[in-house]
Amino acid sequence: MKVLVVGGAGYIGSHASYELIRAGHEVVVLDNLSTGSRAAVHQDARFYWGDIRRKSDITKVLLTEAETKPIDVVMHFAAKLVVPESVEQPLAYYENNVEGLRTMLEAMVDCGVRNVVFSSTAAVYGEPEEPVCREDDPTKPINPYGETKLACEQMIKWVAAAHDLNYCILRYFNVAGADSTLEIGLNKDQLTHLIPLIMQTALGQREKFYIFGNDYPTHDGTCIRDYIHVTDLARAHVLGAQYILKSNDSLLVNLGSGKGFSVAEVVNAAQALFDFEYEYAPRRAGDPAKLIASNQRAANLLGWKPSLSLDDIIKSDYAYRRILLEQ
Ligand code: UFG
Repeated sequence: MKVLVVGGAGYIGSHASYELIRAGHEVVVLDNLSTGSRAAVHQDARFYWGDIRRKSDITKVLLTEAETKPIDVVMHFAAKLVVPESVEQPLAYYENNVEGLRTMLEAMVDCGVRNVVFSSTAAVYGEPEEPVCREDDPTKPINPYGETKLACEQMIKWVAAAHDLNYCILRYFNVAGADSTLEIGLNKDQLTHLIPLIMQTALGQREKFYIFGNDYPTHDGTCIRDYIHVTDLARAHVLGAQYILKSNDSLLVNLGSGKGFSVAEVVNAAQALFDFEYEYAPRRAGDPAKLIASNQRAANLLGWKPSLSLDDIIKSDYAYRRILLEQ
């Protein structure tokens, strides 16, 4: 298949591109390089600079590519995704995530591209009532990030019904780790995610790591999350795209390991491998206590199961960050 990876210079988009190319597919990348990097675009992918909020940037790629072979599927990764930032700057999240998707879908409909794979998030579940989140559970986001992604999901469903579009909505849980080549990984100036921050502390780039909150209603008082290796996640995108193309149908699935680890447990797992200091700090705004995926639907529909463990995730992020440090 021929896939347009929107946001393909970013963390997850670059890993999806690598997996697509490994599986023998053709990849075209569109990115404005606002957070992504040109160096993260696979050398076998064709790159276009462009902004998803400008329809002409998207139609230009779709029409130019159609001169040789039309794009079969658009994978959409170009979104803002930091929970505390979304609490402080909700309008930026609505503009980039909701308006960006609206523009992209309009361009797709105009150009006759009928398949979309969309990055959604566990943040749509909010503060779940059940121990594990199933796709049909109520969606009640507790931060603007989750709200914008839920609005995007709904938009896709309505547009799909009106314009004969197939969608694959993937609700990511906590993604971390780096590609086995260590050529790509999460490379940002302002890191906010748990595992990269622990690894930076282990590498001596930070003095101390802070655990945000020890008074949550969990077994050790720290938040519980479901961690998934970015390569496992990227693989699911390839399967999801193939599924909608083959079945001419749509789906929405969680992508998680099905296992929860508290922040303190992740810190302990990292401490077993590396030496670093940490201490407890107050809660961070917008954090739900517990998010764990049911990944049964992804297994049933896509034949997908994660193959890499929390230790694999920690080790690969560490190895990638060590390379960055040496550069
Ligand atoms: N945390 C710390 N110290 C830090 C950084 C994070 O204790 O220095 C804690 C957070 O408070 C939270 C947990 O580690 O309890 C995970 O935080 P992350 O920032 O790594 O990730 P989030 O759970 O906030 O969000 C991530 C993605 C979202 C996705 C969500 C789903 O960024 O897109 O996982 O679980 F929705």
